[in-house]
Amino acid sequence: MNPEAAAGAILEVTGLTKRYPGVTALDGVDLSVRAGEIHVLIGENGAGKSTLVKCLAGLEHPDSGRMTLGGAEHRPGNAAAALRAGIQVVHQELALLPALTVAENLFLQHMPRRFGILDRREMRGRAEGLLAQVGLEVSPDTPVARLGIAQMQLVEIAKALSTECRLLIMDEPTATLTPRETATLFKVMRRLREEGVAIIFISHHLDEIFEIGDRVTVLRNGTGVAARDIAELDIPELVRMMVGRDLAAEYPPVTARAVGDELLSVRDLTVTPRTPAISFAVRAGEVVGVAGLVGSGRTEAMRAIFGADRAAGGVIAVRGKRTRVPNPRAAVRHGISFLTEDRKAQGLVLDLSIAANLSLAGLSKVSSSGLLRRGVENDAARALSEKLRIKASGPEQTVRALSGGNQQKVVLGRWLAADADLLIVDEPTRGIDVGARYEIHQLLLDLAEAGKGVLMVSSDLSELIGICDRLIVFSAGRITGEVARADFDAEHILNLAYSGYLKNGGAA
Ligand SMILES: Nc1ncnc2c1ncn2[C@@H]1O[C@H](COP(=O)(O)OP(=O)(O)OP(=O)(O)O)[C@@H](O)[C@H]1O
Ligand SMILES: [Mg+2]
Repeated sequence: MNPEAAAGAILEVTGLTKRYPGVTALDGVDLSVRAGEIHVLIGENGAGKSTLVKCLAGLEHPDSGRMTLGGAEHRPGNAAAALRAGIQVVHQELALLPALTVAENLFLQHMPRRFGILDRREMRGRAEGLLAQVGLEVSPDTPVARLGIAQMQLVEIAKALSTECRLLIMDEPTATLTPRETATLFKVMRRLREEGVAIIFISHHLDEIFEIGDRVTVLRNGTGVAARDIAELDIPELVRMMVGRDLAAEYPPVTARAVGDELLSVRDLTVTPRTPAISFAVRAGEVVGVAGLVGSGRTEAMRAIFGADRAAGGVIAVRGKRTRVPNPRAAVRHGISFLTEDRKAQGLVLDLSIAANLSLAGLSKVSSSGLLRRGVENDAARALSEKLRIKASGPEQTVRALSGGNQQKVVLGRWLAADADLLIVDEPTRGIDVGARYEIHQLLLDLAEAGKGVLMVSSDLSELIGICDRLIVFSAGRITGEVARADFDAEHILNLAYSGYLKNGGAA
């Protein structure tokens, strides 16, 4: 080991290798993290980031290589051992227990006790402190099942802050957060850095990396590229280190398209009896973006349109015909697909193969006389996997064994395979690496080019501005504006996104 490189290093990883049947997830990775630095770990979907995290956290055991923490051999047998060694982890997959309350989840690892009895008052008080740190305004007594995914993510982060640690690892903590929540998280991270905590931070948002990171290690196909100071790098160089090629542009070109008939019209839709009425339309050949803050009612409106929740009132017309959409099955029959934002709960069957998952929505296309034709299923799956760059050993691989980003691609692929007239996508590129993100945007534009309609909800304004023809802006449950591509202006759109809250006097 180079003693100079190790100066101040609290974590040293050398030659770490981890194989799964058919895949070498880590192939001799070196990583050196110093106390008091924010060390960014980046790489394409499937590069091995989460596997490295799991080895450090005692959830996976490397086949070879060495880890030391604070100079001592680090070979945790399980998660509890890693925790005892001073490592806290926010995993990519949320691992909260939905039936328990926020406070109970926060202290699952170490319930405060007085005379051996669970001290609820103490627990509540400490929970309130932790929630305040991450800026989450919910009662500690709320059952986790009632939270949205951004809120769950904040609980996970608060949980990692519940005990002191030497090394804090965060695997894509910002994927589901709003810019404001991310800013709060960064404040917490900076404070911990001041206190000398070493932080490993994983994200696909390159701008965040430049904002918060000190050094970066790039993983490529399970191999680490030597750490660099972030101040020496720029985005194009980082992309090159990560994907091994230049990315021509951040977004594919948006060309003029023929816009056809109305595919969907929503008139005076009310999600609940007390929410404002919503009206808008999507035409064939259009990519319509839905902007707004998390919690502004975008997802609820989409769910009501798709029949996932029952709307209180309003009229929905599909291709000009007034239609009832009482459930998702009816929506699919009318040619509407919906990629949900919560893929884990609503999107994937983890123990089925990629091919089976891809065909769940488009079953009629691969079945003849009610029988599933496995050959056709696999061919279709292979073609889609290539298009979306799904990293796997083959279409028979179970989805559980895929990296987080590659699981997302499977969900998206499934809805693309369904060949709907109108595709509703909620946060389609969340957790997707920069290269694949471009491909997904291109696929959505291709659908519009082919005369389909796309309705895209996203919290990433740059993505909406990048590929949409028109934006609908939600704020506090209602639509506060519609903006055509020619008039796109980030500040104007943000103002619309906040305007609903201002008129009501105060944010939600
Ligand atoms: N339990 C498993 N069984 C088999 N293969 C696995 C398993 N877990 C991960 N892999 C494989 O190991 C490789 C690395 O996956 P990993 O989850 O570490 O990627 P990642 O860099 O975190 O990607 P992402 O950005 O998508 O989260 C992938 O090819 C993945 O399919
Ligand atoms: Mg991962």
